[in-house]
Amino acid sequence: MNILFIGDVVGAPGRKALKEQLPKLKEKYHPTITIVNGENAASGKGITQKIYRQFLEMGVHAITLGNHSWDNKEIFEFIDEEKYLVRPANFPEGVPGKGMIFLKVNALEIAIINLQGRTFLSAIDCPFQKAKDLITEAKKRTPFIFVDFHAEATSEKQALGWFLDGQVTAVVGTHTHVQTADNRILPKGTAYITDVGMTGIYDGIIGVDKEAVLRKFLTSLPTKFEIPKNGRTQLNGVLIEIDEKTGLAKGIKRILINDDQSMFQ
Ligand SMILES: [Fe+2]
Ligand SMILES: [Fe+2]
Repeated sequence: MNILFIGDVVGAPGRKALKEQLPKLKEKYHPTITIVNGENAASGKGITQKIYRQFLEMGVHAITLGNHSWDNKEIFEFIDEEKYLVRPANFPEGVPGKGMIFLKVNALEIAIINLQGRTFLSAIDCPFQKAKDLITEAKKRTPFIFVDFHAEATSEKQALGWFLDGQVTAVVGTHTHVQTADNRILPKGTAYITDVGMTGIYDGIIGVDKEAVLRKFLTSLPTKFEIPKNGRTQLNGVLIEIDEKTGLAKGIKRILINDDQSMFQ
């Protein structure tokens, strides 16, 4: 059994890349469960109900979010009714949506948890404490637990990986949009990667039009970021092989698809 997780899908180019590549990935790897981070799916800012449903139609089982969860205001109208949408669990009590869901695919029941870091991001509740509480709850039902840790600092992500080693199937990082090459199985059996990367425009800056981002860096003036409509795309993800006996992981492989022939992959 295995989990295919795809990093932050950014805007229309990201959705297009996902639509094109997902059937090929499914044919190649036969994932038991497919999870996508969709916090940037609607023009880089949040997700709409239509896009959420399109992802499910493509064969995605669950969609995780992050700090951009609330950017598209439509979210408040559907987050509570959609079963397979997971927002960071460590938002304060009373915030709409769910931070953990249980998903049953064939014989496999898995808990999917989304958490958000606090270093260089909003000061929400402690992701470490929240993780501990949710894992205690999840373990009453299943040993299979997947964590998407949406955080800026590599140190905070590594810290959560070590904190949860042996407790969960996988801790994968999202948010920084650049895939890191540190995929590994930690000593007690948890699959880990600091950042899965992103799915969207390849010749940009973290999925955004590079000219706009450059202008911002060069002038420090307020700048409107846009997602380019056309251009080369990439898909970033990981494939995690599950140890069915223990609920831990046997392997984690990076997936990086683009048509850049200059890259040694
Ligand atoms: Fe993102
Ligand atoms: Fe983010």
